[in-house]
Amino acid sequence: MTNYDIIEKLYNEKNLSDEELMQLIQTSEYDKKLFEKADSRRREIYGDEVYLRGLIEFTNYCKNNCYYCGIRRGNSNAVRYRMTKEEILSTCRKGFELGFRTFVLQGGEDPFFTDEKICQIVSEIRSKFPECAITLSIGEKSRDSYRAYFEAGANRYLLRHETASEAHYKKLHPHEMELENRKRCLFDLKEIGYQVGAGFMVGSPFQKAEDIFSDLRFLKKLEPDMIGIGPFISHRDTPFEKYENGSLELTLRLIAILRLLFPYANLPATTALGTIHPQGRELGLKAGANVVMPNLTPVEERKKYLLYDNKICLGEDSAQCRGCVERRAESVGYRVVTSVGNAKRPIEI
Ligand code: 5AD
Ligand code: FES
Repeated sequence: MTNYDIIEKLYNEKNLSDEELMQLIQTSEYDKKLFEKADSRRREIYGDEVYLRGLIEFTNYCKNNCYYCGIRRGNSNAVRYRMTKEEILSTCRKGFELGFRTFVLQGGEDPFFTDEKICQIVSEIRSKFPECAITLSIGEKSRDSYRAYFEAGANRYLLRHETASEAHYKKLHPHEMELENRKRCLFDLKEIGYQVGAGFMVGSPFQKAEDIFSDLRFLKKLEPDMIGIGPFISHRDTPFEKYENGSLELTLRLIAILRLLFPYANLPATTALGTIHPQGRELGLKAGANVVMPNLTPVEERKKYLLYDNKICLGEDSAQCRGCVERRAESVGYRVVTSVGNAKRPIEI
């Protein structure tokens, strides 16, 4: 089949054979048509609305040592910080006033934040902001921990699987980390009742088209509510310092494929995409993304939450980023809204 026909089929049937999907991942020939189809599917379901998530990077301590990540424990150049519960709450307050109705608490896997501390933070946010979604993004935990956070009031969880291929996973992580456990986490989270987000980096070292293919098939099994993808970007103080960044083109193509495979998923135009190209997030929206996640982290801390080099928004505060993403969305024909922004399921429309 030609790419043209494959895109038509994907649009109409929301799935493809293995050969067709591999071909689409690997060829750019009809990307423009692909983006148009993805945008039309996106508009069918989400209209011109762009959902906002306020990102609070509350700790950059991490016990893990992922080869790609700037806050890995082995990076002794990272200047470490933790926000207090009071700082987190006042950051939420500011975010609420700016129209945010989702708070994403993201951090390294920091043992200082015991389950008890996380539950205290979550339940205070829950009682002060009852109509808001609370998203956690704090890594691999036990099922019991996940359940405790859920009962404290968290309702979404982001945990990118990073790569669904066993061999590739081993090339990105030290031996003590297991893909199997990450997958276990994702299925536990779903079963507990969280809206779950998974995802992967595009163009991470050693990634092949086959690995991306496995990512898409794995996502089909998981059926997440959110799928976050962004280009790999090297960080100077990691073992992957010398590897090339992921490409804008492939990231956009994959956002569009995701929109057509998962019409109802929340798909963010990520900060990493905005970092590799000045209009990366706008292009992401045009390729099918419907979410942006501006940073609410206080400026002093955000300068230290460096997963990769040249991260954007280090000098801007939460109000500036809020205004900035609004203008950016409008510049390409969308509209930022302040609703809580749950993923729509067929039943709701
Ligand atoms: N480049 C791009 N994305 C990265 N992440 C971590 N390190 C990098 C990097 N160097 C992504 C991972 C992680 C998310 C929080 O950020 O996918 O899950
Ligand atoms: Fe932060 Fe544009 S989103 S400055």
